Amino acid sequence: MEPWTSAKLRAFRRKLLAWFDRAKRDLPWRATRDPYRIWVSEVMLQQTTVAAVIPYFNRFLNSFPTVQALAAADEQTVLNHWQGLGYYRRARHLHAAAKSLVTDHAGELPDDPDVWAALPGVGRYILGAVLSQAFDRRLPIVEANTLRVLSRLFGSRLDPREGLGKAWVWQAAADVLPRKRVGDFNQAMMELGALVCTPVAPKCGACPVARECAANRLGLQAEIPPPTRKKELTTVRESALLIQRDGKVLLCQRPPTTERGAMLWEFPASVEVVGMTADLGPELLTVRHGVTRFKITLVGTEATWRSGEFASDFYPTGVWVTAVELADYPMSTPQGKLRTEWTKDSRQGRLW
Ligand code: ADE
Repeated sequence: MEPWTSAKLRAFRRKLLAWFDRAKRDLPWRATRDPYRIWVSEVMLQQTTVAAVIPYFNRFLNSFPTVQALAAADEQTVLNHWQGLGYYRRARHLHAAAKSLVTDHAGELPDDPDVWAALPGVGRYILGAVLSQAFDRRLPIVEANTLRVLSRLFGSRLDPREGLGKAWVWQAAADVLPRKRVGDFNQAMMELGALVCTPVAPKCGACPVARECAANRLGLQAEIPPPTRKKELTTVRESALLIQRDGKVLLCQRPPTTERGAMLWEFPASVEVVGMTADLGPELLTVRHGVTRFKITLVGTEATWRSGEFASDFYPTGVWVTAVELADYPMSTPQGKLRTEWTKDSRQGRLW
């Protein structure tokens, strides 16, 4: 990697920003410099695609237009707005951080990295993304798009996702930042990665900075960055019992400490875990679902309550709910599919 002259660096920034002004997508969080809206958008976007985030972002901001509104909401309502987005810990951290900002910082979202760094769920990425976009603070960001753009631009063969390569890419992201329009520049890097400098078949013919790009010059676009190491997939087979009693079904809340789905509601895994006995009925539905490194097969089975009141060492809470009430509880996507199936008129309350 040869060092860049300052003239090359200036040309690069100018061309990239001019392209962004011309080509950027009109996204709901781009019409604002409100740090709260930017923060919510970046938390949602951290693990989720732009297309999936847009409706969630709009609904969330409608219900919780300010940090005060979010802090005042109860956790169930917040999780309900996240239902289907996955990585529910993000929502719980966002909510806890909003409370902390209201309690300890008078509801201000300040231009102060130390305040942000101390909030739950705020790492280097969220810190840089929010403070650069809201206040033009000169802080870098690195996410999936920018690490590809930077690696190709400088022709780095290191794996930017770990170790030395990760340290290199954060340094590179800091080194290329302009003094002004930092937020736009960070977004322009992401936008270039999303629209032009794509993982497969990048559109180098349409790239505003192809002349500055080492990978383009050397024909190394396909090799840089090196492919992600395949995640070890953990296969999980789970069962869920839809235990029915007097037209209601038993729903349990997961504890706050589990790796997946903390505080979400679900149909319990067995009768034993809820201290009951029941007559097993037919299978309701088998759901297959991939999330992070888990490949989940969830088998839902109907059952009729026979004896025992809710008592569990695992689930902190259990409630009997009607089909109508069931809609109010935040559930994971696969559990939600069991709910949908059970709620269908033809199924619900059916006797076998
Ligand atoms: N991905 C993460 N943050 C983004 C943003 N602000 N715009 C588009 N894609 C993004």
